[in-house]
Amino acid sequence: MEKHRESHPQQTKLGRRVILFPFPLQGHINPMLQLASILHSRGFPITIIHTNFNSPNSSNYPHFNFCSFPDGLSEIEASTADVVSLVSLVNVKCVVPFQDCLAKVMSNVDDDHQEDSSTGCLIADAAWKFIQAVPESCKLRWIILRTTSICSFLAFAALPHLHDRDSESEALLPELPPLRVKDLPIIKTNQPETFDELVLELVINQIQVSSGVIWNSFQELEQDALIKLHQDFPIPMFLIGPFHKYFPASSSSLLSQDQTSISWLDKQAPKSVIYVSFGSIAKVNKTEFLEIAWGLANTNLPFLWVVRPGLVHGAEWIELLPKGFLETITGRGHIVEWAPQQQVLAHPATGGFWTHCGWNSTMESICEGVPMICQPCFGDQKVNARYVSDVWRVGLHLERRLERGEIEKAIRRLMVEIEGQEMRERIISLKEKVDVCLRQGGSSHQALENLINYIMSL
Ligand code: UDX
Repeated sequence: MEKHRESHPQQTKLGRRVILFPFPLQGHINPMLQLASILHSRGFPITIIHTNFNSPNSSNYPHFNFCSFPDGLSEIEASTADVVSLVSLVNVKCVVPFQDCLAKVMSNVDDDHQEDSSTGCLIADAAWKFIQAVPESCKLRWIILRTTSICSFLAFAALPHLHDRDSESEALLPELPPLRVKDLPIIKTNQPETFDELVLELVINQIQVSSGVIWNSFQELEQDALIKLHQDFPIPMFLIGPFHKYFPASSSSLLSQDQTSISWLDKQAPKSVIYVSFGSIAKVNKTEFLEIAWGLANTNLPFLWVVRPGLVHGAEWIELLPKGFLETITGRGHIVEWAPQQQVLAHPATGGFWTHCGWNSTMESICEGVPMICQPCFGDQKVNARYVSDVWRVGLHLERRLERGEIEKAIRRLMVEIEGQEMRERIISLKEKVDVCLRQGGSSHQALENLINYIMSL
């Protein structure tokens, strides 16, 4: 995989420590650890503060300091079945242990850098609610990492002003074109009032009191959204993405990545395989699972399918597949629990990605020029999906309920019809923009320089 690691010998000893605090979910850990690696390559000593729950594997990062704290979450509490409840609970349980951990880290930083009075800065995931209060006591400036797109952030920010927001209406939203009511980033939860409160805190209030925001995106992709963002939130913004083009995510994967995915792809024809994965949180029910299985099988096209343990409500893994199904797909279907996704997308045999449109997956697909079938489940994914299909026009939206006939039709449209070919051409030209933005003088390259100077100035 192509990497944009640059050596900056004059900056290898900046001496100003950066403390990073990822939110403990896979889609948040990956970009934060990638950002840590980017900053480390530019000379910043790195400390990662993290929960015991979903803790990153520190042995993959021998050059970082890690400081973990007990989050007190039980196994049931740590479930992602209701993401809103989880985010809320983690925020309650972690306040005090995080403060203790931060105090410990800060005293070590002071001991290590007695000649350097600067204590660096804190980069915290936007899902941490209590960060606003903590660093004041430590006299530490803090920057937010937002792991989502700017377009979905703006949709979240608009939610408190919208009346009709919880329906499946196709009506266009004049204040958020091209979104329709049904694309709003609502997250279904048992605690709707907590969702509203989190939106207010984590989207609107937090950004106004932070020292800046880092985005895993690039200017050329989200030009219009960026203009609006600057108007509404006039604080420093750094679009330095896509992060994974500097450092891949394999070392921050919480599950082991099945390398048979690659040996299996090696045997397939170029651009022939549809890769199917719905990220680390999304779930489907038993009926949907079986429709997906038959939809894939009925295309007679090769597929690589990630069935994450826990993907199907009430099942361990693939035991719900009917007898004989695996024999039917022998040779042309491969099912794994977790794949090395970036390698899969970069593989010449991969021709399409059926995705839930999590922001990491969307960026990873764009970076490898792989067109998408969008199957958003909740929150920001719904906004990303609309942008993929209607703005960037590099994928098609599976809008109706999951049904094998519809699935088969969508896969054929993407993989064999002219429509899919046109999407492929458009996404390849987006991929070329990615390559340009990361080069010397490109927008993300420049934004990274700005970020480094900014951190040094805090
Ligand atoms: C969550 C939200 O759902 C998403 O919408 C938000 O933008 C970030 O947090 P998740 O659902 O896990 O993340 O999706 P995504 O953002 O796509 O992140 C998944 C990560 O896991 C990607 O980096 C992907 O490469 C990796 N992955 C996924 C694997 O390494 N192997 C797999 O088999 C599947």
